[in-house]
Amino acid sequence: MGQKAELSGPDLERGIPAADLREGVPLLGHAGGEAIVLVRADGAVHALGATCTHYGGPLAEGRVFGGALHCPWHHACFDLTSGRARGPALAPVACWDVALEGGTIRVGARRETSTPDMPGPGSVVIIGGGAAGVACAEALRAEGYRGPVTIVNGEGSDPVDRPNLSKDYLAGTAPEEWVFLRTGEALRALEVELVDEAATSIDPQQRSVRLASGRELSWDALLLATGAAPVRLPIDGADQPHVFTLRTLAESRAIAAAASDRTQVAVIGASFIGLEVAASMRARGAAVTVIGPEPVPLARVLGDEVGAFVRRVHEGQGVTFRLGRKPRTIGLDNVVLDDGSWLPAHVVVMGVGVQPRTELAAAAGLRIDRGVVVDRELRAAPGIWAAGDLARFPYDEELVRIEHWQVAVRQGQAVAASMLGRGPRRDVPFFWSQHHDVTLGYVGHAERFDAAEVKGSLDARDAHVVYRDRGVVRAVMTVGRDQLALDVEAAMERRDVAALDRLVR
Ligand SMILES: Cc1cc2nc3c(=O)[nH]c(=O)nc-3n(C[C@H](O)[C@H](O)[C@H](O)COP(=O)(O)OP(=O)(O)OC[C@H]3O[C@@H](n4cnc5c(N)ncnc54)[C@H](O)[C@@H]3O)c2cc1C
Ligand code: FES
Repeated sequence: MGQKAELSGPDLERGIPAADLREGVPLLGHAGGEAIVLVRADGAVHALGATCTHYGGPLAEGRVFGGALHCPWHHACFDLTSGRARGPALAPVACWDVALEGGTIRVGARRETSTPDMPGPGSVVIIGGGAAGVACAEALRAEGYRGPVTIVNGEGSDPVDRPNLSKDYLAGTAPEEWVFLRTGEALRALEVELVDEAATSIDPQQRSVRLASGRELSWDALLLATGAAPVRLPIDGADQPHVFTLRTLAESRAIAAAASDRTQVAVIGASFIGLEVAASMRARGAAVTVIGPEPVPLARVLGDEVGAFVRRVHEGQGVTFRLGRKPRTIGLDNVVLDDGSWLPAHVVVMGVGVQPRTELAAAAGLRIDRGVVVDRELRAAPGIWAAGDLARFPYDEELVRIEHWQVAVRQGQAVAASMLGRGPRRDVPFFWSQHHDVTLGYVGHAERFDAAEVKGSLDARDAHVVYRDRGVVRAVMTVGRDQLALDVEAAMERRDVAALDRLVR
């Protein structure tokens, strides 16, 4: 996260032969002490900063398509002419002037970023300062909207980079300052007001929001980005202080504080979050058991072979599994399972799914169907948009709700564009998940699949898995094949079925 690209490759101020830069193939060099990627696309040459503004990924190892340079790590992308970001990145990369003289390409001055004012709604209120909410506010400013923007966030902390809460931060390998998506101060610098309290109701007719303090905010455009709340199983003992769910910084801090190398941790739920917590607890030296009713972890989303592989990865790091079992009760220092057996547990973490936080939207009369139903522009009603974990949106001819960070950021950015009168664009969903030394990347969205074909070797960390529904490729998961994942995204973005089939064959 935040690392700078090493200076390598040619000095681009001195220039390179134009013939050395191939169409669509990023070339790493440097100018004025900064790492720069040169890209030739559709007859023009562009120079952009080489380091992804998300977690510092190497953009020179990315792909060029759709007028943008795409990061190989978590699929953020940057517009070739403006450097503007799309999720999971929020901030743009810098751009430089480029000259082509006498067969030589030279990089000139770093461009000043100035965006012309963009007219828009009289004021914007965003409820929820998570991925979607913060991304919307930043994108409004990046697009040149100068009207008032307020984020109402009832989390009790500055906005957080939620994926970090189960990974490096929880494992103790990332400092707390990494965990903040944006501080209140950074938002103030963008002239975005962050109000640290909960919204209690919205009035679509009066176009107002009431807050817990009684304060009322009026809006011309409203984004609902309240995310989702973790489920707590209704079993005996689930309300004890050593039983945690994980969504907020406060919860991640509390789990970290409770765990040491002498702690026995029981993770209830062999889900992505449960398994990531297991890995982080092992990194802290705790003994960890994962309990889940399914015979194979993650099989419903990733298939049996991948699930079995993920299990092997965790077992290789000392995690124990009690699968095919549900917890019956939680004691002071144990968990009793539904077969009467028990295991010691000083700390219990529940990763058993989330519920979209639809209460405000439902009370305001918006359409709810296991989420807030929105159209292609993520609009739920006139003047009201919904995005992120909360929203059920049209994708590939059906309504889906997707709980991924990249999707939430892109939807926040798309809402900003829609508020400013731009039409919809189709983003291909992506998520990543980390299991000890293995990172899974998943492109596309398979609401269901009837075949999961593994190509390559998962155990050698060099494979991809193709998820098909009635023969159609819906999603592809990769381990150690980042470039393939980007090529798949490019084909899916173009809806190029033939190219997609060739790639994954
Ligand atoms: C521990 C963890 C790890 C994850 N790891 C990954 C990962 O590796 N990859 C991935 O793709 N996804 C991951 N996810 C999922 C990802 O974080 C979510 O999809 C994403 O955060 C959704 O963004 P959002 O903006 O919809 O909601 P959130 O980020 O949850 O933000 C919603 C915000 O709204 C606030 N809020 C709710 N109600 C109100 C109210 N009434 N008034 C004011 N504020 C309110 C909440 O306090 C919260 O701050 C992870 C999630 C968790 C919890
Ligand atoms: S580091 Fe580039 S997308 Fe995450």
